[in-house]
Amino acid sequence: MNLKDYIADVPDFPEKGIIFRDISPLMADGEAYQHATNEIVAYAKEKGAEMIVGPEARGFIVGCPVAYEMGIGFAPARKKGKLPRETVEVNYGLEYGSDTLQLHKDAIKKGQKVLVCDDLLATGGTIASTIKLIESLGGEVVGTAFIVELKDLHGRDKIEGYDILTLVEY
Ligand code: PRP
Ligand code: ADE
Repeated sequence: MNLKDYIADVPDFPEKGIIFRDISPLMADGEAYQHATNEIVAYAKEKGAEMIVGPEARGFIVGCPVAYEMGIGFAPARKKGKLPRETVEVNYGLEYGSDTLQLHKDAIKKGQKVLVCDDLLATGGTIASTIKLIESLGGEVVGTAFIVELKDLHGRDKIEGYDILTLVEY
């Protein structure tokens, strides 16, 4: 199955000059969604993941079915002001704009092996911040998994030394 066939290219969204790589057609197709999930589950097993973290919002779409399939937990890294209890937080830049991500302080146990899942790796700001949050709580990031990688933005340079799985490249 060629997952690229299930990703829509939307020019000039959300700003002029950005080609938005939209995974909603992939999610809308049960077989394609399951295929992508199964690839990440195989990787998560290989890495010995004990917990999944996904950044808001599309990281939930990718990470939750992986956690469910593996029978392990999922913790959301959310944009500022959404998590109700004590949090750790970090600011980061994006391909378009900037934001703050938070994680509940008790989301990760010390020494827990964590896989981070998201739909897309662009500049790497989101994944680098998510890794920082997990490590600040004592978690061990055993890998990162994405459906899409935008190679030109060199996101992987921001997380040098961490293992990366990407299913589709542009
Ligand atoms: C998008 C995408 C990744 C991130 C990738 O999320 O889902 O999380 O940007 O970009 P980066 O590698 O440059 O950090 P966005 O912040 O647009 O939020 P959303 O998932 O809520 O749409
Ligand atoms: N997140 C950051 N850059 C993106 C892009 N070009 N398409 C979809 N999501 C993104």
